[in-house]
Amino acid sequence: MPSRKGLRPLVVTRIRPESSDILSLELEHPGGEPLPPWEPGAHVDVQLITRQQRQYSLCGDPGDRFRYRIAVLREEPSRGASLYIHGHLREGRTVYVGEPRNLFPLLPAERYLLLAAGIGITPLLPMARELERRGAEWSLRYAVRGAERLPFRSELEELGDHITLHSRDHAPRLDLPALLAHPTLQPGLAVYVCGPARFTDAVEEAMREWPPGSLHLERFEPKAGIVRPNEPFSVVCARSEKTVEVPAELTMLKALEIAGVELPGSCLRGVCGACAVTVVAGHAEHRDSLTSDEASSTVYPCVSRSLTPELTIDL
Ligand code: FES
Repeated sequence: MPSRKGLRPLVVTRIRPESSDILSLELEHPGGEPLPPWEPGAHVDVQLITRQQRQYSLCGDPGDRFRYRIAVLREEPSRGASLYIHGHLREGRTVYVGEPRNLFPLLPAERYLLLAAGIGITPLLPMARELERRGAEWSLRYAVRGAERLPFRSELEELGDHITLHSRDHAPRLDLPALLAHPTLQPGLAVYVCGPARFTDAVEEAMREWPPGSLHLERFEPKAGIVRPNEPFSVVCARSEKTVEVPAELTMLKALEIAGVELPGSCLRGVCGACAVTVVAGHAEHRDSLTSDEASSTVYPCVSRSLTPELTIDL
């Protein structure tokens, strides 16, 4: 069961339906104190009274230091948290919230294309506002199933004709291969993408030939991939001079925890970045959904393992 260490209690001050299947929640400090700052693209861990913990993108106004806003999709089938929030959570209740973490920051670029599908609009909405505020050249393509499933309608309308909606009611369909077919015609373009796995996978596929660094992805779900059978290995903690055996049936994170080596964990699925640690020696087998470079020296021990009999980490 996840602990509440590092999480602060916040009060749910407003729950509002944003579409037929999305609720937004506003969260405030019970004593009216300011909350830690954040930038577009950031997410927070949210733990419910049921101790279920999930990650949600912050989708409000980063300039408002007294309020966080998140949005929650009614998932079917639900992993539990979505069912609880949609069915039982009420205004006035407390949830436990971690520090904002940003693995999806807006980096300098000549021009920006934001691509969202469904609930994937949440990190991109504050990005769009920020780009508009900066006077940047940007556009957003948003795919939703139908008008009744379009959240934040008035906020999107305020952003004017930078936004193109693609839904059954607003033809045409978003044709990703056509939109992303010619990288050479779109120099200096940074593409930011968020949405369900089939959407992010389709964008990744369509951008295979683009220059490295053009694509910025945020995944909510673990990336599907070929996973080798688990092999046991040793993890050496360089700073604490501890060696921990990781058997095939345990994750590296769990083995470290049992050995008394503390490392924060949140999603436990390789999508949130909470457990990141640096590899000092050996070769990690990256099984997370955050690493795009197999040679990366950052490893996520909640899912990743080792290709070498020994992996030394900076811990
Ligand atoms: S706990 Fe989320 S990436 Fe490891």
